Amino acid sequence: MSNDENTAFSSEMENALSTYQEDFVRENLMSDSFLDFVEQNTKPIDLLFAYYRCAIMEVETKFNVLDESLSVELDRNPIESIQTRVKSVDSLLRKMRRKNIPLNLSAIEEKIHDIAGVRVICSFPDDIYELAEAFLAQDDITLIARKDYIRNPKPSGYRSLHLIVEVPIFLKNEKRNMKVEVQFRTIAMDFWASLEHKLHYKHDLPPERAQALADELRDCAEQIEHLDQRMQAVRNEIVTYNKENPKESEFPGFPLIN
Ligand code: GTP
Ligand code: MG
Repeated sequence: MSNDENTAFSSEMENALSTYQEDFVRENLMSDSFLDFVEQNTKPIDLLFAYYRCAIMEVETKFNVLDESLSVELDRNPIESIQTRVKSVDSLLRKMRRKNIPLNLSAIEEKIHDIAGVRVICSFPDDIYELAEAFLAQDDITLIARKDYIRNPKPSGYRSLHLIVEVPIFLKNEKRNMKVEVQFRTIAMDFWASLEHKLHYKHDLPPERAQALADELRDCAEQIEHLDQRMQAVRNEIVTYNKENPKESEFPGFPLIN
């Protein structure tokens, strides 16, 4: 075959192959029977993820209620913001592979505790413990695990209080206990963790530079902890002063509501 004939032949082969691939996908992977098979097989996992979303709603509401009630009591909101997320399927599969978890739904529910995640960002460090204790005191919350990375920071410098809890969700005919990971952080701790997460991976630095940057990030975490403590001290002084020097009412003896 000449060169021209050769080129024409390979392009004909490529076209035939691509037509064959498209026909294969249409007739097999897009067939009714295969799509029914996919639906039947993904329904249990879709349902499980729906349960985790319900558990997140329950927990988020609990924190909104605590914030609302404490805001009246303390005259300020201890929660700055709440973020929630359900683990993505690909990160769930990666974790199952990493931890060698059997490929069935009950193993997933039992062994993976962070499919439902709620992050509570607080104003001051003390708010974290006050909220966590109030949350854990609720009689439908069961503590599964507590990791205090504020009192015992990770080697990276990471600080947060993590709770794994079980919360009931009420379905049409059943009550189900779902696990949720709750992470409590101050705004300052969250600032560090968010940026460190962005900087942490996908770099190819030589080991000694990587170590120097890790040290730098840990140092930043320590400075941030120091700032949190200073802000907390300012708040404590104001609270103590206000307690010791209550404002005199301009209308003594005339309560509006008894
Ligand atoms: P995972 O398999 O990642 O869930 O680890 P684990 O089950 O041992 O839980 P761990 O107590 O380490 O907390 C996991 C979560 O905390 C992560 O998904 C992050 O959100 C956060 N986290 C833990 N360590 C760090 C860290 O060094 N930097 C940042 N930015 N986040 C961290
Ligand atoms: Mg995790």
